[in-house]
Amino acid sequence: MNLNINDIEEKGYLDISVNPSLDLFHEIEKLKKEKNAVILAHYYQDADIQDVADYIGDSLGLSQQAAKTNAAIIVFAGVQFMAETAKILSPQKKVLLPDLKAGCSLADACPADAFKKFKALHPDHLVISYVNCSAEIKALTDIVCTSSNALQIIESLPLSQKIIFAPDKNLGTYLVKKTGREMVLWDGSCMVHEIFSLEKIIQLKKKHPNAQLLAHPECESSILQIADYIGSTTGILNYSVNNNGQEFIVATEAGILHQMQKASPQKTFIPAPPNNACACNDCPYMKLNTLEKLYNCLKYELPAIEMDPMLIEAAKKPIVRMLDISEKLGL
Ligand code: 13P
Ligand code: SF4
Repeated sequence: MNLNINDIEEKGYLDISVNPSLDLFHEIEKLKKEKNAVILAHYYQDADIQDVADYIGDSLGLSQQAAKTNAAIIVFAGVQFMAETAKILSPQKKVLLPDLKAGCSLADACPADAFKKFKALHPDHLVISYVNCSAEIKALTDIVCTSSNALQIIESLPLSQKIIFAPDKNLGTYLVKKTGREMVLWDGSCMVHEIFSLEKIIQLKKKHPNAQLLAHPECESSILQIADYIGSTTGILNYSVNNNGQEFIVATEAGILHQMQKASPQKTFIPAPPNNACACNDCPYMKLNTLEKLYNCLKYELPAIEMDPMLIEAAKKPIVRMLDISEKLGL
């Protein structure tokens, strides 16, 4: 078979048609064993992809897995910054991403050139960056964080330490409120978490008076103010499992509902309504990955993440710092 490598440049993936009679779940399992490959999937992936994954998690859990896996190949069912993080932590391994165009609006909101200038305006500040950023931004960062550990990482620093927090202004504003510390915030946001309608959520809460609102800290502060629980995707999932409530309105990407419903089939999960006519809150980048693309990617071992070794070195330090702090804090 002649692989059309140009496809990857133009489309972001190998455009090879897959025989519709193939049982892709079975074929993917077979390929994983043959190639000593592991599939790491974020909760925002399609249900099918979550069901073939070896590990499903939030950004922190996925980077911890990427750092410790013994597999020769990591197939990252997520977006580019996540696959890059896996490559940075395991540069000797082949890291595959089913669709290289799976980017992130938040990462795009923080270009490295502009951020370098911003950082130069605050020379005495430590830079904490949310993992949802490019490797170039990580290379300009002192400590990376995720939504699972951002609060603890900030609280582990002396009060006198001045901080720049990038790139998510919503998570940053939430952390300023929680810690009571001033931080200089970069003005970025996630298109998915900014789409929820406060009015529609309030109406929904009236219709379901026992439903609790679970929100990701990437949501705007007006939504967070009325939330019953705020946390990362893993935090939201765990809360829904451990809490006695039976009804939950979920203000994060709709993919997480698959694991929530699987873990608590008797409970009701309602996706928080967006401020437009769309029925769901899907991340268009996360959803570029499909089971067919994942199958081709594992079969042909393309597309793979390629990075400059110098960039890997520079971006690795703040990620390793995050993993070390998280380990010490038992996260
Ligand atoms: P977590 O995985 O930390 O919950 O973040 C969600 C997200 O937006 C990933 O893109
Ligand atoms: Fe980026 Fe938002 Fe999609 Fe996460 S949900 S990958 S932050 S655009």
